[in-house]
Amino acid sequence: MNILIIGGGGFIGQKLARQLAQQGRLRGQTIDRLTLADLAAPATVAASFVVDTCACNITDRPSLDALITPETDVIFLLAAVVSSHAEADFDAGMQVNLFGVLNVLDRCRAAGHAPVVVFTSSLAVFGGEVPDPIRDWTIPNPQTSYGTQKAMGELLINDYSRRGMIDGRGFRLPTIAVRPGKPNRAASSFMSSIIREPLNGQEAVCPVADDYLHYYLSPRRCVDNLLLGAEIEAEAFGSNRCLTMPGQTLSIRQMIDAMTEVAGPEPEKLIRWEPQDEIQKIVSGWRFDYDPAKAVELGLTADQSFVENVRYYIEDDQTAA
Ligand SMILES: NC(=O)c1ccc[n+]([C@@H]2O[C@H](COP(=O)([O-])OP(=O)(O)OC[C@H]3O[C@@H](n4cnc5c(N)ncnc54)[C@H](O)[C@@H]3O)[C@@H](O)[C@H]2O)c1
Repeated sequence: MNILIIGGGGFIGQKLARQLAQQGRLRGQTIDRLTLADLAAPATVAASFVVDTCACNITDRPSLDALITPETDVIFLLAAVVSSHAEADFDAGMQVNLFGVLNVLDRCRAAGHAPVVVFTSSLAVFGGEVPDPIRDWTIPNPQTSYGTQKAMGELLINDYSRRGMIDGRGFRLPTIAVRPGKPNRAASSFMSSIIREPLNGQEAVCPVADDYLHYYLSPRRCVDNLLLGAEIEAEAFGSNRCLTMPGQTLSIRQMIDAMTEVAGPEPEKLIRWEPQDEIQKIVSGWRFDYDPAKAVELGLTADQSFVENVRYYIEDDQTAA
């Protein structure tokens, strides 16, 4: 079993690689080789099988010939220009999130062996005039360029799968928190900062009120769901390969209370409340009420409480920070 993670140097890509290294198997087979590809060659992971790391740019179609071969069994397609970045730079978003995805699928088609492709979409495909809760059959109505590009990626995953060119499956990820490291260019970045920075004794700014509701999942659960997503038999998806990954709807207050339950009252004192119009404008358009029935039926899961998210950050990432 040969696995390729495109975007393997990113936050989720690295965690996925470590989990694959730990379990050593996927789809009932022993893993022989894992390739981690990203704009710069990613950090490697220790594993009992071969791990290759390489630089790749999915906007460069010819370079994908050597990366995706008929020996590539499973591809996790995580590479993306994330939300605020894609909104600020329309061309970058289109090049990577639409044409880059198309390049990968086109290379799979040319390779001719219909690999499993696990695509990470986003809840940003939803928005506008659709009723709550957002269900599996709710029409995508993205209100950002990022959401539009992800929605187009979903359509491509469906059509390439229907035609037998890939065995695709796409998952709309909730906001993954607590994200380690530094803030990134996602508009949702503060949702991790307000927990991560205070846990590390640093100040953080919260640009929205504490009753702001949003949909979250921990990195651990996200990786488990992506791995399960690769395992599920194609027929189980029916005629739509793309679905919403389960998460939890929480207010900022519930998240902070979970942090206090785990780490005591001091971290909350490091949060500064500073409304920011630009961030509020973007995140107030995001939906928070989802019914991910199909994914739940297929066995994907959410965290039980944000206490889990805080604990996982401390156990998996804080010492590494
Ligand atoms: N983290 C979240 O909360 C979240 C929520 C919804 C969807 N997603 C999606 O999940 C996926 C992974 O997210 P993440 O948080 O790990 O993001 P990330 O930014 O940490 O990782 C994405 C990786 O893609 C790489 N990349 C960008 N352009 C590339 C290109 N042209 N060629 C090759 N690699 C390229 C980047 O260098 C980066 O390492 C993305 O598709 C993202 O849109 C994430």
